[in-house]
Formats: sequence, C-alpha cells, structure tokens
Amino acid sequence: MGPSADISAAPEWRALAEHCDEMAPVHLRELFAADPGRADRFTSSVGDLVVDWSRQRVTDRTMELLVALARRAGVAERMEAMVGGAPVNATEGRAALHTALRAEPGPAASERSGGGTDVGDGVRRELRRMAALADGIRSGRRLGATGRPITAVVNLGIGGSDLGPRMAFEALAAYHHDRVRCRFASNVDGSDLTAALSGLDPAETLFIVASKSFATVETLANAAAARAWIAAALGEEAVADHFAAATATPEAAVAFGIDPAAVLRLWDWVGGRLSLCSAAAAVLMIAIGPERFSEMLAGFRAVDEHLTGRPVADNLPMLLGLVAVWNRNFWGFGTRAVLPYSSRLRLLPAYLQQLDMESNGKQTRLDGSPAGCKTGPVVWGGAGTDGQHSFHQWLHQGADIAPADFIVFAEPDDDLGGRPGLDRSSLDRHHDLLAANCLAQAEALAFGSGAEGGGIGDDGDGTRDDSDGARDGSDPHGRCAGNRPSTVILAPRLTPSVLGQIAALYEHQVAVQGAVWGINSFDQPGVELGKRLAGPIAAELSSPDPPALGHDAATNALIRRYRRLRNRPC
Ligand code: F6P
Repeated sequence: MGPSADISAAPEWRALAEHCDEMAPVHLRELFAADPGRADRFTSSVGDLVVDWSRQRVTDRTMELLVALARRAGVAERMEAMVGGAPVNATEGRAALHTALRAEPGPAASERSGGGTDVGDGVRRELRRMAALADGIRSGRRLGATGRPITAVVNLGIGGSDLGPRMAFEALAAYHHDRVRCRFASNVDGSDLTAALSGLDPAETLFIVASKSFATVETLANAAAARAWIAAALGEEAVADHFAAATATPEAAVAFGIDPAAVLRLWDWVGGRLSLCSAAAAVLMIAIGPERFSEMLAGFRAVDEHLTGRPVADNLPMLLGLVAVWNRNFWGFGTRAVLPYSSRLRLLPAYLQQLDMESNGKQTRLDGSPAGCKTGPVVWGGAGTDGQHSFHQWLHQGADIAPADFIVFAEPDDDLGGRPGLDRSSLDRHHDLLAANCLAQAEALAFGSGAEGGGIGDDGDGTRDDSDGARDGSDPHGRCAGNRPSTVILAPRLTPSVLGQIAALYEHQVAVQGAVWGINSFDQPGVELGKRLAGPIAAELSSPDPPALGHDAATNALIRRYRRLRNRPC
C-alpha cells in the first residue's frame, strides 16, 4: 500500500480492530496462565538490551496481524529508504540520515585509497574535529584569551541541540572528565543562563553555540548575553577564543564572531531531535572523551544494523513500533509512560518527548490528506523510584491506561572512576532495591490484585497472600485491576554503548510508527506559528510607548496587564 494510502482503510487495519474486540475481555493474567512460555516468547534482545514485552496486551495472532499491517504500510521499505538517504523528509525535500552519523572512526577520503566522497567522509571529518576540540580542552592545551586553560564549557542550545546532549551528559556522569565542568543553558529565561554561569570564570570558559539553524531566538539571545559576559570581562577581541559552534549555517556563526576553525558542522539532513550523534553533542564528547563517544556511536550502530538487517517479524525496533501502534490506535491509549529506573536517566523522558512528539505529533499524511487515525501519543514519565511517589497511583488505578516502558540495569553505574561515594556493598543494596521496585511495578500493573484473584505467584497457580484486603475485594479502594501493559528493557549497565542502543531503539520505533501512519516524522512545521507570533508580541511587551494592539481580546488584555505590572505605559 505504501505511504500514500490511508492505512486505516486497509483490510489489515480492520483485522486488527476485530482482533482487539476479541482481546477486550482477556486479562494478562489469563494470557500468562494459559501459556507458561509466554514470557520467553515475547522477550527479545538487541545488542546488550533484553526487551520483555510479554506484559503488552498481545498474542501471537496480534503480532502476525501487526506484521501484516507493517507490510501493507511498506514500513521496511520506508526504513530502507531512510537509511539509504532518500528524501523521506518529503515536505522539506531532505533525507533523514541520522544513521549516517554513527560512522566508525576512519581516515578522511583523501587518506583513503581511491578517495571517494560520501556523507560518511564529512561525518568522519567532523568527528575528528570534535575530538580535536575535546582533546584540547580535556588535556588543558586549549587556552582562553588570557592564556589560561579552558576548564568550563557551556552549551547554548535548545530542543534537539540541548535535550539529547544534556540527557546523555547526565546519564554518563560516571564517565565525566574530572576537571572540566560542563553546563547547559537552553531557555530564554535569563535565570537559565545565570545558573549556567554561576561560579564560572570567563577566562576559563568556552561557549558552544549549538544551533542547526543558528537562528533560534532563545539560543541567539543566550549567545549574545554570553558574548557580552566574555567581552565585559576580557574585551571584545577575546570572543573568538571563548566560542565554538555546531551549526548547519557556518557563515552565521562566523558573522557572530566565532573562529571558523571552531565551527563544527551539522547538516540539514539530520533533524535536531535525531542529532545526538552529531556535533550538536560536542559538549558530551568533551565531558566523556572521544573514545566513550565512539562507544556510544557503536551502540547506536548495533541497533541500526538490527533495523535494516532483520525481517519485520524478527526486528525489535519494528516490533516495538508496531506494539505502540496497537496500543495507540486499537486500544486507544493516548499516552505512553517512560520510566527509567535510574536517577541519571531522569532526563530520558524529556528527550523522548521531543523525539516522539515532535516527530509524530501530526495529523497530515505525506500526500497532504488528513490522517484517518490517531497518530503520535503524549510521551511522559519520570525516573523510578521517584515516580512511585508521584504519578504511579494514576498508573495503577487511574481512569485511563498508559502503557509503560520500564528501563532497568543489572549493575549500578556509580562505581566507575573511583570517585568518592557509596561503598560497593551499599551501592549493591541500593541497586537491588531499585531494580526490585522496577520489576514489582511491572508485575503490579500487569496482574494487579483484588477480586479477580491475586497476581500470578512464581508457582503460577494464581494464589497470593494479600493481607491488605485488596485480594478478596473487601477493600474496593485498594483493589488494582491490573491488565495495564508495559515493556521492560533490561541492560547490564548504563554505559555509553547501552545509552546509544536505547536511544537508537526509540529513534527507530518512532520512525516505524510514522511509517505506519504515513506521516512525515522528520519535519516540525507546527512549531513555526508560535515562533512567528512571539516576535511582534515581544516588541509590544517591551516598547517604550503604548503599542497599538491587533490581537484577540485575551492576548491584548494580557499584554496590557504585563506592561502595567512592569510599569510601562499602556
Ligand atoms: O523545536 C523546533 C526546533 O527546530 C527543533 O526541531 C530543534 O531541535 C530546535 O528547534 C532547535 O533548533 P536549532 O538547532 O536550529 O537551534
């Protein structure tokens, strides 16, 4: 059928809808009780990741029908086209070649026999330039205008030029350089940059302006303020020594005053939310070093190879994307929760929010017609175990259901680098508690407690001592119905490679969903309107004279209220 037709009109779609009706009265407890081998059959691995989706509301029949749907939608062909550099970002006439970013280190074209130029050469060149910048700073050889070494790096970026690098920076804290401090400022709220600059010495600070367009208002405002901060302390001529950039518009960066040698290249064939492997994450490479960054790229590659090297029925990124469609379009679950049981992965839900919601938060198909079905869900979540004391009440007993993705590691990641902290036995005890809570949450969501019988004990006979009265239905308040789907991703440890694998697994399942729905997952036209409206309003808020207002009554009134509160004439 391919991307041009409305998938919701396909016979495979109707078959899934009928199948969902058949599944409606079936509880996960029954599926497990009827099939002792279920957990194993719905558990697969890719790279170091073990992925258990047995607590999703699926059967073998479900997966068969989903695979048939994928075939009808031409998902495999779309993935091949994406990885092959076709202009899958049709509205912008661009490729979406983020997979090309995970190039293995290698010689430049000129050093390779036969030369030959492809995007890979450019990618490898920029990785080498990133490494040179990182090594210069990590070694102390990179000096500021006064001859002192750079000891602090501040990333100025927003959206994909912030969320990925910042998430990965926090996730890989165990691998941070012990001297170089890295900070992030994304919001145009001045308190963000103020916080990032707190305690830093201009003479030892380098700013990286990470902006593919070099036109994003927030980032340019922060870059201008940072520039003024440097110029005030060190003089205007010092700017070039204290700025670098990662951008697809190098001429704009040079015009800003950045040394061309410090302008790292991004490309228009990589979307911001897919740019974690690019120079947009130069700050990450400075923090963890080129070798660890390369390990992260290898992790991405391991999943990339799975995406294009396996048939749909044995292709984990595709299967997870299809299960997400099953939950979204057939069960009608409007959101999905990402629950990393790792304090250092606490920014993962925010990163995946942009990745998923900016990719698939659309209702227009590639041919310009309205989508005939729901598309991208709301993605939300938070680190466990904190979420258990916040929103898990809703997860267990709320009126709506959110399929949950649990992410958990076998080993704590804190005993690397020999930094002071918890001793090993304490770390292990904490970690066991963390993992136990993760597994318990998935079990409770799936099997619940209360009137229909307790959870499936490890003897599988459905008996479970349940002293809180929820089991016998005597306490309707404590009863958890269960049958709430989840997937558990288990990995040995939060390493650069594992982080790359997790990120790639989500990148691809988002693209798979978009391919099923026939939408363009690689543009973001919806964000432009707000940006266009903000410019004139900013001028109306700050103008010295009362502005002539032509907005709706509410906006006009709020502009006037704001001006009054700022003691500006209305
Ligand atoms: O949110 C819109 C968007 O274009 C994102 O896709 C992007 O990551 C972000 O703004 C920042 O864009 P830039 O890297 O061009 O500053």
